Amino acid sequence: MKNTEIKNAENTKLAGDRIIELRNNNEQYFIVNGRKKTYHILTYGCQMNEHDSEKIGGMLTSIGYEETDDDKNADLVIFNTCLIRENAELKVFGKLGEVKGLKRNKPDMLVAVCGCMMQKEEMRQKLLKSFSFVDIVFGTNTIQELPGLIYEVEVNKKKGIDVVENSELIYENMPKMRKFKYKALVNITYGCNNFCTYCVVPYVRGREKSREPGEIINEVKLLAEDGCKEITLLGQNVNSYGVNLESKITFAELLCELNKIDGIERIRFMTSHPKDLTEDLVMAIKACSKVCNHVHLPVQAGSNDVLKRMNRKYTKEHYLGLVDKLKKEIPDVAITTDIIVGFPGETEEDFLKTVDIVKKVQYDSAFTFLYSVREGTKAAEMDDQVPDDIKHDRFNRLLDVLYPIVLERNSQCIGKVYPVLVESVSKTGNSYLTGRTEHFRLVHFAGSENLIGQIVNVKITNVKTFHMEGEII
Ligand code: 5AD
Ligand code: SF4
Repeated sequence: MKNTEIKNAENTKLAGDRIIELRNNNEQYFIVNGRKKTYHILTYGCQMNEHDSEKIGGMLTSIGYEETDDDKNADLVIFNTCLIRENAELKVFGKLGEVKGLKRNKPDMLVAVCGCMMQKEEMRQKLLKSFSFVDIVFGTNTIQELPGLIYEVEVNKKKGIDVVENSELIYENMPKMRKFKYKALVNITYGCNNFCTYCVVPYVRGREKSREPGEIINEVKLLAEDGCKEITLLGQNVNSYGVNLESKITFAELLCELNKIDGIERIRFMTSHPKDLTEDLVMAIKACSKVCNHVHLPVQAGSNDVLKRMNRKYTKEHYLGLVDKLKKEIPDVAITTDIIVGFPGETEEDFLKTVDIVKKVQYDSAFTFLYSVREGTKAAEMDDQVPDDIKHDRFNRLLDVLYPIVLERNSQCIGKVYPVLVESVSKTGNSYLTGRTEHFRLVHFAGSENLIGQIVNVKITNVKTFHMEGEII
């Protein structure tokens, strides 16, 4: 397969003179008003979007904007949208309604909408019709064009719209306003080729493309030099990393390379597809000391019939075989998952097979979702949609099984000591800190704020379903 073309983010279509002019205008603005122009990003959805928002922040900072944590006093409000389930979509439209009122009182405020929703033609039409006050629309492949789009609105007095539906390009060296110093998200693949029948991602994020290993390694080295301790490698299906690259490299080999970088202490990755989780990856997790013993392995359903109609390309038996392998090779491995309840045609018997796999695997935690119809996907066309009341009933019954298992897994940590990367002051109280173990368990413990960003040893004293409590030793 042909290599994906790589472009430097500074050489974009609309870059160059326009960026320089914008920068000058913003400097003038600062001189006249005694403050920089401000932006506020509302991010919906997954870590991929969170990381895209860091790039958007980086682009805006490079032309003289600064971030504000309140949309009410921002000069530019950006909606980075998600389309994975209907409720994500509804949240965006609800909040846009609110911002419409803001814009009425502050006509100079710019409103931009980007992200997965904008990758779909019908969504763009709906947005531009119902929310005509929106000034800028861009997609997941055109973040680098944002300065040019602002220029279009401010200087040319036109709407700034730039969406590329399926791009083979990867833009490297985009500036990033990283949210945290001690942990970072790092893209390794973009897009998805799997076409699970319920999922809209392949239609909006396009075909899978991998970043060159050298680009990833350089980025991680720079992060380490800057004090970053934990990286999370991002891709819709990290296990298929490298298949479109000329330089033959597997995901397992990439992990081993990243494991060598001084300063990085933890390596996480999201998401693994069970059909591509290979023996050499299991062995790499085992062998690489910095790779966390945590695998997020979305099962989606426990019935082979449902898995087939979901186009997941594995069976319940294959999945359980992977879990056995992981547990045998890495005895303290934490396994987490995603589950969809109420996929079209799911019978009570199918549902009970999902409950059964949850019991067999003994998950450390799980994201559970009600199936949501996504227009354009194959599952949306299936005629035996499950009624809402049955979906909700199954969902609640699933949680009744899942939560005691999660609590039991957490209970097994009581009395043990775990290294915890301290992330922030706990929401539960000021003298409390919050961090995560390598297994992704959330821990609250007493400690001073200057420990944020460090890895400390914490003895677990008490556990709940969604967090554990402990003390530093
Ligand atoms: N309905 C419900 N859940 C979905 N997911 C993806 N598409 C849908 C949908 N249409 C879930 C899957 C996936 C996670 C990111 O979101 O479980 O793993
Ligand atoms: Fe969606 Fe399946 Fe691709 Fe994940 S692997 S993004 S669920 S199509």
